[in-house]
Amino acid sequence: MENSQELDSLLLKYTAALKTLETQLSILLQDFEYKNNYNPVEHIKSRIKSYDSLVKKLINKGYEVTAKNIEEQVHDMVGIRIVCSFLSDVYKIVEIIENSDQITVHDKKDYITNPKDTGYSSYHLLVYVPVYLIDGVTLVEAEIQIRTVAMDFWASLDHKITYKFQGKIPKEIKEDMQHCAMDIHALDQKMLNINNQMQIIKDDQEVI
Ligand code: GTP
Ligand code: MG
Repeated sequence: MENSQELDSLLLKYTAALKTLETQLSILLQDFEYKNNYNPVEHIKSRIKSYDSLVKKLINKGYEVTAKNIEEQVHDMVGIRIVCSFLSDVYKIVEIIENSDQITVHDKKDYITNPKDTGYSSYHLLVYVPVYLIDGVTLVEAEIQIRTVAMDFWASLDHKITYKFQGKIPKEIKEDMQHCAMDIHALDQKMLNINNQMQIIKDDQEVI
C-alpha cells in the first residue's frame, strides 16, 4: 500500500459501513419477526476482509494494492452472511433487503437457481450503504450472502476441503463435492416441504 493514511481512511469507511449495515439488517429482520411472528434467521456473520486476503485477491487479479484498486476491484471488503432456516426464507430476506430504502441493491447473483461449477449455492447481493462522515455522505459497497443452514454446511466444509487449495483438484473430488451439493439441495427441498405440511397442520389447529 503506497499510503497508510489512505488505507486507514478506507478502513474507517468500511467499518462504518459494516456497523450501519448490521444495524439496518437487524432492524428489518426484527420488524419482519414482529409482523410475521416468525424468525427466518439461524445466525448472521459479518467481517471486514483481512489485509492478507485483500492483497491476495488484488495480486491474483493482477492489480497493485492501491486505494483506487481496492475500491474498484474488491467488492467484498464489507461482507455479511445471513444464514436462514428454509429455502423460502432466502427469497423472503432478499425481498426485504431489496425493498429497504437505505440499502441499494446494485447486483444480484442467484447461485441457488444456478449453482457454481463447484456446487456452491447461495444468494449474493451487492449493495451500497450510505455512510455519514463529517464531510458528507458516501456510498460504500458491501456483499451480502444469504443461504440456508444446509448450504452453509456445504460451503463451510468446502472452504476447508477445496476452496483455498492452490493446486489442481482431482476430477473425482470435484464430482464428489458436486454430488454432496446436490444431496444438500434435495434435503433443503425436503425440509421445506415438511415444514409447509406441518404449517398447514398448525394453522388448522389454530382455527379449531
Ligand atoms: P470473488 O472474486 O471470489 O469475490 O468472486 P466474485 O466476485 O465472482 O464473487 P462470487 O459471487 O463468485 O462469490 C465470491 C464469494 O462467494 C467468495 O468470497 C466465497 O465466500 C463464496 N464462494 C464462491 N464460490 C465458492 C465455492 O465454490 N465454495 C465456497 N466455499 N465458497 C464460495
Ligand atoms: Mg466477491
